[in-house]
Amino acid sequence: MLLAFSDEGTGPVVVLLHGFPLNRSMWDAQVRALAPAHRVIVPDLRGHGESPAPDAVYAMDLMAEDVVEMLDGLGIAEPVVVGGLSMGGYVALALALNHPDRIRGLVLADTRAAADSPEAAAKREETAQAVLKTGDLGPLIEGMVPRLFSRSTFRDRPGLVPPIKAAMEQTTPAGVAGALRGMACRPDRRDRLGEIACPVLVAVGEDDAISPPDEARAIAESLPAGRLAVIPRAGHLAPYENPDAFNPALLDFLRDVPPHA
Ligand code: MLT
Repeated sequence: MLLAFSDEGTGPVVVLLHGFPLNRSMWDAQVRALAPAHRVIVPDLRGHGESPAPDAVYAMDLMAEDVVEMLDGLGIAEPVVVGGLSMGGYVALALALNHPDRIRGLVLADTRAAADSPEAAAKREETAQAVLKTGDLGPLIEGMVPRLFSRSTFRDRPGLVPPIKAAMEQTTPAGVAGALRGMACRPDRRDRLGEIACPVLVAVGEDDAISPPDEARAIAESLPAGRLAVIPRAGHLAPYENPDAFNPALLDFLRDVPPHA
């Protein structure tokens, strides 16, 4: 699958993968911060943004293959740093486990290593069917938005909310259903975290209600080379809600990732 992507800056390659049901625009503040010293490649995952949205189950492994295909298409064979937020983190984790030779550093932001509970998976299927039947993403968006942001974001930076709603509104029913079904069948990765040898930054908003700090801490502790960054005044969209805290943590991490030999 040919993904739409942006490609800015020069230097060591960093690939950033967005959450559900968003698109690459959520990483704009990171692109601005990294591009002076990195090549930052930010795709729209299948079913999102400007990428195609086939009727299919978008397994996390499949989305990871899309990213590998994008890198191959760009002629990038050397190992890169890959970061993902939430669903993007599930994809980044799949990439690191399936293609360890392509990764020299990993950033897992506001994400989980566990699988869905049977109840959560069933709820995703219900939502996928409703969205496909009605074509209306309104109930999904209204249900998600209150849980995405920290209370401090709603109070102090309410202007951050409308662009996220707008990104969600641009996602198609087929894209939403494909991603929901793919997330519902993702495997539990907790017992494989020990295989990831490269440095990993695990970042989480202090108020993340979807993938809470305790889960992030457990992921960091299970990794051979994991470090945790808890981002203040942020919920589930930590890089977007508080780039002033997230970006320095990311840049510090990138400085410490050994260069490609
Ligand atoms: C996301 O932000 O990508 C979603 O919350 C992930 C999920 O629903 O598991």
